[in-house]
Amino acid sequence: MTVEEYHAFARTACESISAERAIDVQAWECFKSLLHYVQMDATDGGEKWRELKNQFDNDLPITILYLAVSPSLYVPIVERLGEAGVNTSKSRLVLEKPIGTDLSSARAINDGVADHFDEEQIYRIDHYLGKETVQNLMVLRFANGLLEPSWSRSSIDNVQITVAEKLGVEGRASYYDGSGALRDMVQNHLLQLLCLTAMEPPASLNDKDVRTEKIKVLQSLRRLDKDSATRFTVRGQYNEGIIDGSAVRSYIEELPQTESNTETFVALKVEIDNWRWAGVPFYLRTGKRMGSQRSEIVITFKPVPHSIFEGGEAVEVNRLVLRLQPDEAVRLYIQIKEPGPGGLRIKSLPLNLSYAENFSVRYPDAYERLLMDVIRGNLSLFMRRDEVEAAWSWVDDIISAWDELDTPPALYSAGTDGPVSAAMLLDRDGKEWWIS
Ligand code: BG6
Repeated sequence: MTVEEYHAFARTACESISAERAIDVQAWECFKSLLHYVQMDATDGGEKWRELKNQFDNDLPITILYLAVSPSLYVPIVERLGEAGVNTSKSRLVLEKPIGTDLSSARAINDGVADHFDEEQIYRIDHYLGKETVQNLMVLRFANGLLEPSWSRSSIDNVQITVAEKLGVEGRASYYDGSGALRDMVQNHLLQLLCLTAMEPPASLNDKDVRTEKIKVLQSLRRLDKDSATRFTVRGQYNEGIIDGSAVRSYIEELPQTESNTETFVALKVEIDNWRWAGVPFYLRTGKRMGSQRSEIVITFKPVPHSIFEGGEAVEVNRLVLRLQPDEAVRLYIQIKEPGPGGLRIKSLPLNLSYAENFSVRYPDAYERLLMDVIRGNLSLFMRRDEVEAAWSWVDDIISAWDELDTPPALYSAGTDGPVSAAMLLDRDGKEWWIS
């Protein structure tokens, strides 16, 4: 791009996120004067790095280096930044997920970056941690004394975490086909949601305390081998189908090649071997081209020990649903007497705390929040090196088991809830995926 093209690109991006308000021309001109653009080969040394360095205003208290590039470029770029002397004590380095494609590549990236930056200068982004509703999980758990006594194996039957997308691979086929849903979504976003749901109360909200509790959860995940992977994991790939009334192509048709074993859907049964969660299954699923766009955590409580109604007929269980997106909400399903004569009819209805109904303010996008945290120097919503590596270590076992098994992913029609085997995963335990 030329500098002008880059400015036009930035302006279009600003306009797209401030749809309800026209851009203030004066403010834009002021902002534009701060935007510079240097075109260069990121892996090559040379003059251009000095030109880039000269763009930095040395009087400012911090310098943020944000690498939104392929992870294979992290180390080469960081080495060049080191050579150019841009890694000063006031630099902060932001890295996008994925950090590598397995444990060994993640370690190589972490080592290479550590040669030039201290761990406290590195902000590894998992944008799920910046979502309002994900942060609300901590408030919900740790600002409501009511929940804590029930937040364990003594009251909870199972936990379901779903991140369902209607989107396909959208022009990212070459990245996605080398990655698949396990690496793209489970290793980071879903495991982070699981950690926040399952962790012990941290001593404080500072980054060290929060990240230390999360890593304990990762270390307690029961590891899977070939045999358990057959029973507790499901891989799927979307076939053609219908989404919102329109026909969509199969995954294979979106690729340049004619075959692929990459999974676009994963469902897992995960056990956490610690005192709080022993015996409580955590069911995780995520997929592309599913029937609905929905991320939610569903906590299903145990049934009442004995029903006194209608000759002991079973009553519905309580459920706490955290709807992360869209229609952000917290819903607690309780049983209530349906009004009217004719005996006690019991109905399950939600106490519904909808964000839209309760807060009329615009809340920040996950990236707005996280970038602001980088500026403030708050690391608690970013992943520490050992966290990323612990997550890869657990996921690597699944990848090895799948490699050994060498079974193709089960096909599912686009616009559905994934392959039938995902329903069977729960059916074997006498449970079902719960849809709000
Ligand atoms: C990204 C994945 O990290 O998260 C994408 O690489 C996925 O494949 C996206 O679509 C989902 O994020 P969100 O915020 O839309 O749920």
